[in-house]
Amino acid sequence: MPALATTAICAPASACATDVRPPKALPCRPCARAGLWHVSAGGIPALMLGPLAVEASSRQLGVGAALMDHALAAAKARGHRAVILLGDAPYYARFGFSAAKTGELVLPGAFERDRLLGLELCEGALSGAWGMIAPTGAPLPRTKAARVRKAQLVPRVA
Ligand SMILES: CC(C)(COP(=O)(O)OP(=O)(O)OC[C@H]1O[C@@H](n2cnc3c(N)ncnc32)[C@H](O)[C@@H]1OP(=O)(O)O)[C@@H](O)C(=O)NCCC(=O)NCCS
Repeated sequence: MPALATTAICAPASACATDVRPPKALPCRPCARAGLWHVSAGGIPALMLGPLAVEASSRQLGVGAALMDHALAAAKARGHRAVILLGDAPYYARFGFSAAKTGELVLPGAFERDRLLGLELCEGALSGAWGMIAPTGAPLPRTKAARVRKAQLVPRVA
């Protein structure tokens, strides 16, 4: 697997986006993307991860795992206590995500209960979590929001 340079863009109160890019010598677009968004999980501050996507030609190389490890380490280093996502349990279980503490949480609109997963970065962070998951971050500044939109070069996935 080629060496990866990682970049992280983080706005203080609203959103984090992490790109994994090929080495700088190659003038390439990002081959993978993960976003982390500030939410309230029934009153408990948490991050919502998504979308996580790796371009089809770069899959099965460990890029998704590298991106997840990077995103979770960055979240922990910034003092976040829990991460929530909507995704395939068989994939996310390897990073420690499970539905064990998300059973009483809900998202606006229809969603598949067994795909709502959580990871405690601090033990007990999601204990007793109950209620609606809602965004809490301030909107990105317009210029940064435009840059983030422009960088969405890979399909959005839940
Ligand atoms: C899911 C995704 C991010 C994984 O990225 P990746 O760089 O290929 O992942 P990695 O190389 O780190 O890991 C590959 C492993 O994950 C497994 N895997 C990939 N998608 C999976 C899924 N939906 N469910 C279970 N396992 C999955 C592969 O079988 C492989 O397993 P192995 O290590 O036992 O061989 C990427 O395939 C993707 O963007 N898919 C499109 C969106 C999608 O299907 N998302 C599903 C999760 S919500």
